[in-house]
Amino acid sequence: MVVYLNGEYVPSRDARVPVTDRGFLFADGVYEVVRIYGGVPFLMEPHLERFRSGLSALGIRWRDVDDIPEITGRLLRENGLEASDATVYMQITRGAPARRTHAFPAADTPPTVYIAAQEHPRHPAGRFEDGVAAVTVSDTRWTRCDIKSVSLLPNVLANQHAHERGAFEALFVRDGVILEGSHSNLFGVRDGALITYPVCNYILPGITRALVLELARELGLPVREGPIREEWVEDLEELFLSGTTTEVMPIATLDGRPVGGGRPGAVARRLQEAYCRRAGI
Ligand code: PDD
Repeated sequence: MVVYLNGEYVPSRDARVPVTDRGFLFADGVYEVVRIYGGVPFLMEPHLERFRSGLSALGIRWRDVDDIPEITGRLLRENGLEASDATVYMQITRGAPARRTHAFPAADTPPTVYIAAQEHPRHPAGRFEDGVAAVTVSDTRWTRCDIKSVSLLPNVLANQHAHERGAFEALFVRDGVILEGSHSNLFGVRDGALITYPVCNYILPGITRALVLELARELGLPVREGPIREEWVEDLEELFLSGTTTEVMPIATLDGRPVGGGRPGAVARRLQEAYCRRAGI
């Protein structure tokens, strides 16, 4: 695989980052994942906008974010992915100064920029038709979940917890509210209305979440941005996830109990269909 590292296209086995890199030592960086359908990036611009705001929140300067579509095109070509379903992963850290200090290194320390494209097949159709299992976990993350930081240890542990229980996703619960998944946002349907947590510091402002809200409005579905409370789960008509690699994925069971009768509901199905139309897939 050929990857992009600091301005060069190199075989991944030759791509080297110094051990003093602040991504390695402090998880001091941000990342993005963009979906590619049939060789075409989907929703690239809003992902780049979120990347820019993450860099600005961390005070990392990299002026070439606008070059990412071109870099992506070259990575897809170099890796024979021009017609493939893939993802592009991009990460920028605060670089590799000589010394480890908590405070930022000298302003002229170049950031480390890594971008890679990899084949990423879509989920099997049965997963959308039958829905997936999810489990709840306590939200042990920091309170800047709006920054797409590479510091993902709570997400890794939560997702592993889900996998060990045969579940697809772990949902973070804070103060009795189910906020989002380890790598996806969460929607519920209650009394016919779509509910999702409002954008704030407790969730990632998902690009797919924003698209789902836009599609819901187009479909004339009532939408409310507010909490999905744990105690409501038994009364919810539907629960579903949204995300770049998740698309619109119905949840059939939560902590082993059926959601909305254990079958994916009509709202998730309509939104997944609208998602596919928008993505041209
Ligand atoms: N994860 N919430 C969290 C915590 C996430 O990590 C993600 C995405 C989302 C969904 O956001 P979006 O629709 O912009 O992908 C919500 C990516 C895909 C990942 O970590 O691989």
